[in-house]
Amino acid sequence: MRIFLIGFMGSGKSTMGKKLATKLGYDFIDLDHEIEKQIGTSISDYFGSHGEAAFRELESQSLKNFAYPQNAVVATGGGTPCFFDNMDWMNASGTSMYIEMPPAALAKRLEGGKEKRPLLRDLDEAGMIAFIESKLSERESFYKRATIIINGINLNADAMRAAILNS
Ligand code: S3P
Repeated sequence: MRIFLIGFMGSGKSTMGKKLATKLGYDFIDLDHEIEKQIGTSISDYFGSHGEAAFRELESQSLKNFAYPQNAVVATGGGTPCFFDNMDWMNASGTSMYIEMPPAALAKRLEGGKEKRPLLRDLDEAGMIAFIESKLSERESFYKRATIIINGINLNADAMRAAILNS
């Protein structure tokens, strides 16, 4: 079984994905990390030199062509579900789970790690909240097509596993 975790940057896809994978005895795959291994540079640098459109192509191809193990929890990038037919592809290839978080909570989580994220790098605090609000409202219709929608506040791996068993 493949479980695709989707949601905004900072929603906990990687952190919670690792915990869920351990709980289920599944492999954990971080799509951003796999892309970085493939291109031999950081996503941030790739964005800078090739632009976002090129990154989205690469991201979509990596999502679809990765040699997934039988059982895997996959943390996708925040934009992965919102381009091409990636949301359909994930729903056809496994179970998708949207980790839902309000903008203020995301902003708080993202404060420290801005440099790693090309879309946030140049924003000040006010700019960051405005950016998250507008980007999230753009992306929500994609995220909400997930098989499972779960509240990201105080989330734990047991709740995630229960949601999967009940889906
Ligand atoms: C992006 C999210 C990032 C990464 C890239 C673009 C986005 O992944 O794929 O910087 O468009 O939201 P995380 O959600 O893992 O930070």
